[in-house]
Amino acid sequence: MQKIKFNTLARHIYEEERKYPEATGELSDLLHDLSLAAKVISLEVNKAGLVDILGFTGSSNVHGEEVKKLDVYAHEMLIKAMDHGGHLCVMASEEDEDIIHIPPEFYIGKYVLLFDPLDGSSNIDANVSIGTIFSIYRRVSPGNGPGTIEDCLQPGFKQVAAGYIIYGSSTIFVYTAGNGVHGFTLDPSFGEFILSHPNIKTPKKGKIYSINEGNYLYWHPGLKKYIKWLQEEDKSTGRPYSSRYIGSMVADIHRNLLYGGIFMYPADIRNPNGKLRLMYECNPMAFIVEQAGGRASDGKKRILEIQPEKLHQRVPIFIGSEEDVLMVERFLRENE
Ligand code: AHG
Ligand code: MN
Ligand code: MN
Ligand code: MN
Repeated sequence: MQKIKFNTLARHIYEEERKYPEATGELSDLLHDLSLAAKVISLEVNKAGLVDILGFTGSSNVHGEEVKKLDVYAHEMLIKAMDHGGHLCVMASEEDEDIIHIPPEFYIGKYVLLFDPLDGSSNIDANVSIGTIFSIYRRVSPGNGPGTIEDCLQPGFKQVAAGYIIYGSSTIFVYTAGNGVHGFTLDPSFGEFILSHPNIKTPKKGKIYSINEGNYLYWHPGLKKYIKWLQEEDKSTGRPYSSRYIGSMVADIHRNLLYGGIFMYPADIRNPNGKLRLMYECNPMAFIVEQAGGRASDGKKRILEIQPEKLHQRVPIFIGSEEDVLMVERFLRENE
């Protein structure tokens, strides 16, 4: 078994920052504040079955989905934890149509935060893993007043950090600041995230595919062929693959990151842009997976190079082990 240095998330962030003499510590503060919000959300998620918090609020979000109370709770908690730290100039959330301004009484900083407060929220009632995803950019708008939509609409390769928190059998905080991917497990008894997955590297090729196969009828012909190909027996290429699909992107990608494999949410006849959101889901997960040695594309080009046009833009995604993503791209290309 690999011996892992006993370290907390807070100390790890500090140690990483010290490698860069020019660092001001602001990004560290942001990550630290996010970890605090994560602990509070984790506590609430763990209580979900006990308190009267399940069910719909009755309102729907900008995507026309019914919003669950825990989505709203996580969204509000993140804003509450992040808006007054002095390091952000603007935020945006999957659960809010517009950008979120920093209240005028607080300092305005140089960073931009985008987040999906609760991912996989349709799984809440069944006690299945859900998560939070975040993405951090440097501001690009001039001056040091409030941030703008322009600050939020940056391509993914400009991210300075990204991460996710899974509320699963344990709560795990995974992040990258462009120097590898590191995972920390929350010890609920003393409330610290402890380094449990240092420098995560994803296998070059996996044995798992993850996709909502109920949409088969509506898929691109190349994708239909690819999935059938994965199901055929061929020992030399490790087939057939196993199928695993939770329906929480965070949890599906986290599992594949550790074991190797491919997660897909494709475009189809009914949803020409797929389902998942570029700014809150695809970019941060793509940054993390690439940092772990994997690949993320929309079927043709790198997710991180897409120039966003809208805050809530959707994009097809194929993400995971490099060889698996290259293979699906080939099937799509050769079956146009
Ligand atoms: P969210 O709960 O943030 O709206 O995201 C749900 C997403 C994502 O987590 C998951 O991968 C996908 O929806 C599942 O969609 P299907 O139910 O269509 O498979
Ligand atoms: Mn949602
Ligand atoms: Mn989501
Ligand atoms: Mn969500």
